[in-house]
Amino acid sequence: MTKNFAHRGFCTRYPENTLLSFQKAQETKCDGIEMDVHLARDGEVVIIHDETVDRTTNGKGFIKDMDYAEIRKLDAGSGEHIPTLDEYFDLVERTPLVTNIEMKNSMFWYRGMEEKVIGMIHKRKLEDRIIFSSFNHFSMLKCKKLAPEIRAGFLSYSWFIDVGAYTKKHGMESIHPDYCSLTDETIAEIHNQGIKIYTYTVNKRKDMERLAGLGVDCLITNDPALLDDVLGRT
Ligand code: G3P
Ligand code: CA
Repeated sequence: MTKNFAHRGFCTRYPENTLLSFQKAQETKCDGIEMDVHLARDGEVVIIHDETVDRTTNGKGFIKDMDYAEIRKLDAGSGEHIPTLDEYFDLVERTPLVTNIEMKNSMFWYRGMEEKVIGMIHKRKLEDRIIFSSFNHFSMLKCKKLAPEIRAGFLSYSWFIDVGAYTKKHGMESIHPDYCSLTDETIAEIHNQGIKIYTYTVNKRKDMERLAGLGVDCLITNDPALLDDVLGRT
């Protein structure tokens, strides 16, 4: 059965990657939440998509150049702030939700971010409910080495050949491709390798129907309520 993961929370209706967006996703029938993490200057793990706060808040600047105390004061929309990963875990810890933590470390490979995030997961014993992903495949290899028990997958945004074989060879459990690159043949090649497919960002009903019909394991969507409907969960 295809799973429903809320991308940056319920971000068609609420400000992306905020506690409000995550809370509202929880109120749907989604199976999980996808979000993005960066490291602030003082080492706090924060949830935001971009390297800077410019697009999603009333502030300006790179996350890596700001302490969390400064970041916390910014308005991320609807009076929400940029949350820490710890605050997020407080919210979802006692729910059955799975979390796809995307390490946003392609532009800046934040020193020690993998260790820090894995330490927080171990402390809360959430190993079974986390899936790591990143466009930085070296970072995923590092996560697998540090915590082989936590699922991890490669993100991709282009059309790759033998992507299932590549993903398996490097010890990942899943591949997270842009849905536009998923042909019937690609899906079959990935599944033949025993690799799961978590595809993003699927927001239109007809695309949801097609990909669910082809047995894609998980659709990551900005509209988890629409996907609930497509999957017949309402
Ligand atoms: O994890 C899937 C997707 O979120 C990757 O792209 O840019 O939305 O983080 P982006
Ligand atoms: Ca993401």
